Amino acid sequence: MLAAMLIREATPDDWPGMWAFMEGIVRAGETFSWDRDTTESQARQMWFPAPPGRTFVAVSPDETILGTANSVRNHRGGAAHISSASFMVDPAHSGHGVGRALGEHVLKQAREDGFRAMQFNAVVETNTRAVALWRSLGFALMTTLPEGFHHPTHGYVGLHIMYQRL
Ligand SMILES: CC(C)(COP(=O)(O)OP(=O)(O)OC[C@H]1O[C@@H](n2cnc3c(N)ncnc32)[C@H](O)[C@@H]1OP(=O)(O)O)[C@@H](O)C(=O)NCCC(=O)NCCS
Repeated sequence: MLAAMLIREATPDDWPGMWAFMEGIVRAGETFSWDRDTTESQARQMWFPAPPGRTFVAVSPDETILGTANSVRNHRGGAAHISSASFMVDPAHSGHGVGRALGEHVLKQAREDGFRAMQFNAVVETNTRAVALWRSLGFALMTTLPEGFHHPTHGYVGLHIMYQRL
């Protein structure tokens, strides 16, 4: 765990430091169901969802951006009480608890915002680090869409839907 890491709401000024590592994750196409050629402006629009969506950054004391997450209302109408969230940690800072801290923060905020559940719609089954992290944060694996994701090196792999009550 990085000492003195702070998680706060992201501001537009944070974007260049976020995109600096997000771009590589998007272009790799291994973990996100985004087009690999998503432009920076499309990414920015998607990553800053309208309220009640939120965008967070994890920063070091010198304000280096270590990772980012966002949360959204996953459904509308009668299912509007279910939230969702997405996460990207700078690979240069992964394995030091940033993803876990962002996950805990997003869950706490979603509870405070009155959501009753959180659902992850598309967790790629080969992303074993993420699957283990989400399980340890209380998410259950509800089902796996067979061949739901076309991985650039593994080919068609399963896509998990994960869920927890808040
Ligand atoms: C998945 C991701 C968010 C995890 O963030 P992170 O900051 O590296 O995660 P953490 O350091 O909090 O570690 C989480 C768990 O991963 C595992 N882990 C950490 N470092 C690891 C390593 N080098 N190798 C394998 N597993 C590792 C550990 O089990 C750890 O759990 P612990 O807290 O019990 O030790 C990050 O790797 C990432 O952004 N990946 C690319 C985008 C992505 O996959 N997003 C999620 C889509 S569902």
